[in-house]
Amino acid sequence: MEELKSSVTTLSAYFITLPLNRSFRLLSLFMVLLITYSCKKGTPTPVTVSSVDTTTLRSVASFPIGAAMNPDLIKSNTYYTKIAGTQYSSLTPENVMKFAATEPSLSQFSFADGDYLVSFAAQKHMRVHAHNLIWYTSLPVWVINFQGDSLAWESMFKTHIETVAGHFKGKVASWDVVNEAIRDDNGTLRNQDVNAGDGSIWRRHLGPDYIARAFQYAHEADPNALLFYNDYGQEYNGLKLDSIIALVTKLKTRGIPISGIGIQLHIDINTSNTGITTALQKLAATGLLIHISELDISVNPGNNQNLVLTDALMQTQAAKYQFVAQTYRASVPVAQQYGITTWEFSDAVSWIPVYYNRPDWPLPFDASYNKKAAFYGLLKGLQ
Ligand code: XIL
Repeated sequence: MEELKSSVTTLSAYFITLPLNRSFRLLSLFMVLLITYSCKKGTPTPVTVSSVDTTTLRSVASFPIGAAMNPDLIKSNTYYTKIAGTQYSSLTPENVMKFAATEPSLSQFSFADGDYLVSFAAQKHMRVHAHNLIWYTSLPVWVINFQGDSLAWESMFKTHIETVAGHFKGKVASWDVVNEAIRDDNGTLRNQDVNAGDGSIWRRHLGPDYIARAFQYAHEADPNALLFYNDYGQEYNGLKLDSIIALVTKLKTRGIPISGIGIQLHIDINTSNTGITTALQKLAATGLLIHISELDISVNPGNNQNLVLTDALMQTQAAKYQFVAQTYRASVPVAQQYGITTWEFSDAVSWIPVYYNRPDWPLPFDASYNKKAAFYGLLKGLQ
């Protein structure tokens, strides 16, 4: 009995020191008191403080933990909504704040879906990291067909940024201002297509300094928003990583308002751990905020059309999730930890199987919205 009481005391002290939110801490304390009371009454209560299945990602993380989300799913799927509103403390709109969604026709803006996510986030006390203002793709056809001289292009570009960032001013914490501007093969800016559709219409019509101007326009429209450059491939393409750091450092030196870098981390179970560590360390050395902005971990990088998800694959994936979270905490100073965001959270709605046209299970929740080993890996990595 004495042993039990002393472990209860130790447990109380432990809960008080944990970085948990207030209600979780109160609940934990209540459980401890209940056990103490039972001990006093002499009831042989087993000490099985199994918090595993009630512990949420947001309650253990010392920085915002987020997911990309979709308003239609929040409206239509109660499993989705429950997880979205309990596990996460940050929300990135998966698609509804992109160019094609916010300005479907010239000068016709559409904010209903974005507004819906903003109000859902507010209701659940979540931060909104907005995504994105300028990208070479997800453009409406009218932009691709836009005719005009460089002044007309500049005005269309500027108006889009100012109107969208202005609409969400004060409602979102931050923006991915420019997304994926750097080429994979030589680290220069996307311009003409290298492969079909991967050039940048913006660079072509506005010149290389369009990136700096995008940040200036966004800052003028929403001076308190933190502004990010966001890109993929930084964990396996050293040249691209260095080019991104050089670009952002130069912008910073010029006084362009940029606060952080997003490293997407669309990775797979074979992605080199060294690559992830090196990228996070080099990014952190810029002194800017670092956001793991679109994490997912594919188990089928070989595009096997007949792959079956085995327990072994799930364990490997879980270990990778844990590694990413631990490495982020170890490599990025606390003051620069903007958070970790997964790209959606359930395998049912991941973009990976669609985009790569293959079976895949890249996220912490399975297609029936149950926690996978990956969830527990991530949870462990955050603690
Ligand atoms: C993806 C979405 O997940 C898909 O639903 C959409 O069809 C295409 O875009 N990098 C990014 C994200 O910055 O915006 C992309 O999201 C995934 C890759």
